[in-house]
Amino acid sequence: MAQKRQIIDNIYYVGIKDWNVRDFHGYTTDHGSSYNSYLILDEKNVLIDTVKAAFSDKFLENVAAVIDPAKIDYVISNHTEPDHSGSMPAVMAAMPNATVIATPKGKDGLSKYYGGENWKWQVVKSGDKLEIGKRTIDFIATPMLHWPDSMFSYLRDDKLLFSMDGFGQHFSTSYLYDDEAPYDELMHEAKKYYANILMHLGGIAKKTLAAAEGLPIEIICPSHGVIWRKHIPEIVNAYLSWADCKPAKKVLVIYDTMWNSTEAMAKAILEGASQTGVSAKLLKLSANDLTDVTTEVLDAAAIAIGSATLNNGMMPTVSSFLTYMQGLKPAGKSGAAFGSHGWGGGGAVAVDAVLDKIGIKRLREPITCVYKPEASVLDECKNFGAQLAEIALKA
Ligand code: FEO
Repeated sequence: MAQKRQIIDNIYYVGIKDWNVRDFHGYTTDHGSSYNSYLILDEKNVLIDTVKAAFSDKFLENVAAVIDPAKIDYVISNHTEPDHSGSMPAVMAAMPNATVIATPKGKDGLSKYYGGENWKWQVVKSGDKLEIGKRTIDFIATPMLHWPDSMFSYLRDDKLLFSMDGFGQHFSTSYLYDDEAPYDELMHEAKKYYANILMHLGGIAKKTLAAAEGLPIEIICPSHGVIWRKHIPEIVNAYLSWADCKPAKKVLVIYDTMWNSTEAMAKAILEGASQTGVSAKLLKLSANDLTDVTTEVLDAAAIAIGSATLNNGMMPTVSSFLTYMQGLKPAGKSGAAFGSHGWGGGGAVAVDAVLDKIGIKRLREPITCVYKPEASVLDECKNFGAQLAEIALKA
């Protein structure tokens, strides 16, 4: 059945709930996702963003449940990534009278993906506005948040912000609004989204939030998940905290093991870190999802990273984690490497070599052992754990 859900007078939700997606370019989406699109009816009718290509038919049904697609005058593309633009060819075929509105980089990207030689275009920049009748839409470019094309669209009369990926959550739910969804689950999904998509863009996120600070906002319509209307201060404050990777009193021991020696070291570090007032967590990479581990990293104060030695280097699971972290660049963490080795080379040394690249301030040389940790090595691990806890307690 086609979706027809009114948000406020003459503004409709026409997006798609993707209940079954579990892998969003490597991000594990336990609760599915949604590709949100919005329709504004006025003297000129406007569609905000589209959905993944696979959902084009259903999406056009949702639009048609509100208005004849041929009566759409503008299609605003706030973001070129194909989860929001994949339906553009089908949309433009069904909406021959529409003009596509995008930033210059948005036009470049959409043209590269879809051609669009026969589409009508209107290129906009920050400060431009579009009068559509009773309402006016303001455009706010948000370059590199998180693609160069990105922008917000803002309805000044309704104090409503279309924030594309910003404030989004991979969270498929029958609820439309934040106050309908379970709060803790919603904030966890928003945090997970920030950690895995936006963590490396904290500086840009803060500048964007500062630029938007003067705008009165009563509703935020993101491109994924539920619409914010009640918990706007909470999600904005959370973004300000996440943008700084602000640490909680939390220690993580992240590792993988081959014959349990590195695991014994990890558990000794955890034991040392398990002090009153500190949340200490053991995260074995072959037993935990990378997306969830990354969410934990966002607000950790101190992190120990361990690897057994495989072929003179680190284990592939640890290598994969560190590669992901090098892109996401967590900030303001302290820690060190640890791990076992046999007759040559060492996983711990390989981990230690990249700590700087993932924003971890090195507290000490790597802790290592040959084959199996002796009692003295385990004591060293416990002391290191206590050092991590001390740092976390100051957070
Ligand atoms: Fe939801 Fe950056 O696309």
